Amino acid sequence: MFSRAVSTASVAGRRAMSGSAGGFKVAVAGAAGGIGQPLSLLLKNNMNIGHLSLFDIVNTPGVAADLSHIPTPAVVTGHTGPEEVGKAFDGCDVVVIPAGVPRKPGMTRDDLFNTNAGIVANLADAIAKHCPKAHVLIISNPVNSTVPITAEVMKKAGVYDPQRLFGVTSLDVLRANTFVAEALGRNPAETDVTVIGGHAGTTILPLLSQVEGADFSPEQIAALTHRIQFGGDEVVQAKDGAGSATLSMAAAGARFTSSLLRALNGEAVSECAFVQSTVTDLPFFSTRVHLGTSGVDKIDGYGTLSAAEQANFDEMIPTLKAQIEKGIAFAAAR
Ligand code: NAI
Repeated sequence: MFSRAVSTASVAGRRAMSGSAGGFKVAVAGAAGGIGQPLSLLLKNNMNIGHLSLFDIVNTPGVAADLSHIPTPAVVTGHTGPEEVGKAFDGCDVVVIPAGVPRKPGMTRDDLFNTNAGIVANLADAIAKHCPKAHVLIISNPVNSTVPITAEVMKKAGVYDPQRLFGVTSLDVLRANTFVAEALGRNPAETDVTVIGGHAGTTILPLLSQVEGADFSPEQIAALTHRIQFGGDEVVQAKDGAGSATLSMAAAGARFTSSLLRALNGEAVSECAFVQSTVTDLPFFSTRVHLGTSGVDKIDGYGTLSAAEQANFDEMIPTLKAQIEKGIAFAAAR
């Protein structure tokens, strides 16, 4: 077991030296995994991070040593196994969770429930104990269930704050931006599609009718919507048993984390995210969320839907409801 313990004083010293506005402590749980490693690499380059704490049940010493040679302000520490989770999470401002198993061909995200629900619940216990004020960013699937699980665990511990819990749906937005820009011959980096609902199959609903200046045919809308909803399957099939999206997810996770840290520093930033919401009758829903110095600041509605979007919306609600309830029931039975 290895833990490159860095004293608080040296972290503070590095913060002072860096002159960075944030100096936030950010932990990645699942840091040695397919998403965790590239995500940690991208976060090492984030100037708002003063301490990057890598937690996993295996291999964090190597990842931490490797990243620590990159000359950016973030001090990197590695922590392995449950006995080191306290050190990993202690005083964290943000904990990002890509821990758990990914999909293999033919699997839905819901098929991961049995393994990942327990992993996420145990990590939520540790967050409640060691950094109850942290902003928690859930990547582990099924997000539609793991976010409610985390909320319930935090509630039981008396530390739940809906402003600080996020299901990361940014990969759906990145895919939508890429595929829509491709169809319109636009720059994908300047395209920002709103994606609402949840993060699994038909619960992912891109609002293509709201893309400025786009005049898609019904066939184009149907094809693009399907590709955004099931884009993850393209990667799972291409990887042929070796996992699901990792590099694009790392980019998506880093984007969301970066946006949140900018908001915590006082900048006005908005992202789509799966959060506690009153926009629908469901307790959690993803729409555009305005982030502020305390996390969720304001949650947008979804505007006017086209007839096709309304039909998809109506069809999605019972599925999403069942997946949310499955998470809540799991946490209640623990
Ligand atoms: P991976 O198997 O490559 O990595 C997972 C890591 O989690 C491993 O290093 C493993 O040791 C670690 N881990 C397992 N149990 C742990 C625990 N109790 N505490 C800390 N670490 C633990 O998997 P990959 O590809 O990185 O995917 C991770 C998760 O992210 C999966 O659930 C996957 O479905 C999900 N995912 C979510 C996406 C999203 O858009 N939200 C997109 C793609 C994947």
